[in-house]
Amino acid sequence: MAVVDTLRATTTMVTILAHGGTAVLPVAEMEQALALRARYPEALVGGERNNRRPKGFDAGNSPREYGSERVAGRRVILTTSNGTQAIARCVGAAWLAAAALVNASAAAQALTAVGDEALVVCAGGHGHPALEDVLAAGALVEQWPEEGWGDGARIAVAVWRQHRRDLLGALRTAAHGRELEAMHLEGDIEDAARVDDFAVVPVRGADGWFYAGP
Ligand code: MLT
Repeated sequence: MAVVDTLRATTTMVTILAHGGTAVLPVAEMEQALALRARYPEALVGGERNNRRPKGFDAGNSPREYGSERVAGRRVILTTSNGTQAIARCVGAAWLAAAALVNASAAAQALTAVGDEALVVCAGGHGHPALEDVLAAGALVEQWPEEGWGDGARIAVAVWRQHRRDLLGALRTAAHGRELEAMHLEGDIEDAARVDDFAVVPVRGADGWFYAGP
């Protein structure tokens, strides 16, 4: 199973591990993230509420805040409004990964290698579907044989094929993309639209942390 939150949680998780972060722990609650500092004093605590870095956090949820100079060799505890909540709800999954446009091919291959029925969970936004997540799901699904696609998969692929030539434009028109643009976070949208920028797949370990896979 893979969770997608293109803007921005899973894009940020991939970026952290691709830039040398040792592990990412997605948690649902801000209090939980801050409390974990006592146990992991060397870790960065990052994330967002209403797209902004919460008080007392080391970093926000922008992939650009997690360059190698900051994250190499470090753990990151991350909490976000939707993405890390969706991950928390997948607690029962036997195998869990984080996917986005930036690692679509690597994530699709990793899911194939696991061998189970592939399930892509779109985090969406506050209970609603999000264009950018359906798009990324389509980018993954297109790499699997068509005879295995359910209707949800067909919808995702149709959306992906409609927008694949102008992903940046699509992400900008998406509701969450417009919110980020209004906050002058266009760079985050550009980063999130880069298909297969990284070959890293964050995969949940037995301890709940996500490590660079596959
Ligand atoms: C979320 O989890 O809701 C998103 O990652 C929000 C954001 O863009 O920071």
